Amino acid sequence: MSFRHLSVTDQLLSQMDKALRTLAPGKVCHQRPSPAQSVNEADMTDAERKHAAGLMRVNHSGEVCAQALYQGQALTAKLPRVRQEMEHAAEEEIDHLAWCQERLENLGSHTSVLNPLWYGMSFGIGAAAGLVSDKVSLGFVAATEDQVCKHLQSHLHELPVQDERSRAVVEVMLEDEAKHSHAALQAGGYRFPAPVKGVMSLMSKAMTKSSYKV
Ligand SMILES: [Fe+2]
Ligand SMILES: [Fe+2]
Repeated sequence: MSFRHLSVTDQLLSQMDKALRTLAPGKVCHQRPSPAQSVNEADMTDAERKHAAGLMRVNHSGEVCAQALYQGQALTAKLPRVRQEMEHAAEEEIDHLAWCQERLENLGSHTSVLNPLWYGMSFGIGAAAGLVSDKVSLGFVAATEDQVCKHLQSHLHELPVQDERSRAVVEVMLEDEAKHSHAALQAGGYRFPAPVKGVMSLMSKAMTKSSYKV
């Protein structure tokens, strides 16, 4: 249902419901099976499992941010087509969120305690970008997805070599995120200049460093 047909209270409740589903463990269901499902669990030392879990926790936090960003943007997007596109992208990202959550459980670990903070910040940034213009909003998606692709590529190098299950998840996510970036630019997104991307990169470093640990 379009936000335009909902009262402010309904919109608020709908947003709270989406936030709780994103943040509460086990509340999201994937449409596509996890790419890890068809791969055997590898033998890893405790240190390797801990490292893999740290990286997958960062990826999970990134997906929490993606949910919040898209929901914030959908709320303030001006064109119905852009709003629908944001809502559709958020649905696709739910697979990633669920896969990372599942992988963390398999590794005997947990999602980041900082996720509510990342959700709130990303929702605010997404809503603000949507208020400026759809072109900026779509440009922000493209720049964010590029940033995520860089992280995922670095994780493919950093993950323990034998952890094929985590790698399978990261590889499919990488393909999807590259498609999201391309689609946002195709839809008319503004290409952000390098200094803006530099600031975004600093912000994402703070998120990755802290989510890796907690
Ligand atoms: Fe994603
Ligand atoms: Fe994405």
